[in-house]
Amino acid sequence: MSSITPADDAPASPGAPHPAVAGRRVWDLPVRIVHWSLVAAVLACYVSSRIGPEYFRLHLASGYVVTVLVAFRLLWGLVGTRHARFANFVRGPRAVLRQASQLLRGQPARHAGHNPLGALMVLALLASLAVQAVTGLFGNDEIFNVGPLYGWVGDERSLELTAIHKGLFNWIAGAILIHVLAILAHRLLSRENLVRAMWTGRKPADAVARDEAIGSSRLWRALLLLVIVIATLAAVVLLAPAPALSSYE
Ligand code: HEM
Ligand code: HEM
Repeated sequence: MSSITPADDAPASPGAPHPAVAGRRVWDLPVRIVHWSLVAAVLACYVSSRIGPEYFRLHLASGYVVTVLVAFRLLWGLVGTRHARFANFVRGPRAVLRQASQLLRGQPARHAGHNPLGALMVLALLASLAVQAVTGLFGNDEIFNVGPLYGWVGDERSLELTAIHKGLFNWIAGAILIHVLAILAHRLLSRENLVRAMWTGRKPADAVARDEAIGSSRLWRALLLLVIVIATLAAVVLLAPAPALSSYE
């Protein structure tokens, strides 16, 4: 929770926008790009899985995008900016219970980064999407289409992983619904616009003490990490034995 002193509300320099108006930066550019790209890519995965097996290329492409985004975000949680790091927002059960009771009493505390309850959802979304991506890579549809890593596991194991892939998506869809409803509820209960913050990267100065704001987005580091993630996925896919549905040939 932030503690704001009156001096925090002063503009940084004459002529600079007042912090209460401009806000203080908490989400770096990579976090924001990953979030909104993930929304688009997950939607594309769902739609492409529904419109028919002939659109599998689209499913594969959007699935690769989800794989890269989730892998990137998990690693960014270790080396990213302050509020992107898991160590700075994942809290124990006591903090989660405290926040829940504050919510029930109608006195929600403001947080510069994710709040303790929101952090649980962030972890659940990232972990379930990671499992979804990995099971997809090994999956097959028993007719025409195979994931690029199918050759490493063969039919039987691939079908088991495909069953997980199909079943898990329902849980992911449920989690996304709860995620969005929680953000809307937060808006109504605490009047805090988290969506705008995830878009602009900034929260009002009364939610973020000056020393909690981030400076740079560490874009070079993010770019290097992105290249490493894409190169690793490409290497894994290229090294896998050629996928072919052995029992359906
Ligand atoms: C496919 C759908 C979605 C997925 C997979 C998803 C996933 C996530 C993840 C992983 C985070 C953590 C961000 C980070 O720390 O990097 C997050 C945060 C957030 N998401 Fe989503 N999201 C989805 C849809 C949406 C939608 C539709 C909205 C808008 C209503 C939204 C608004 C937000 C906001 C405001 C946060 C920041 C919450 C906070 O301040 O603690 N998300 N989302
Ligand atoms: C590169 C990664 C991925 C690959 C290779 C892949 C592969 C597949 C395959 C082979 C199927 C066909 C299963 C069948 O109809 O029998 C499938 C279905 C499906 N996939 Fe993926 N997938 C990937 C990523 C994802 C992701 C990230 C999501 C969602 C976040 C997703 C959501 C779905 C859904 C909803 C279905 C339909 C399940 C059903 O028919 O009930 N996939 N995927």
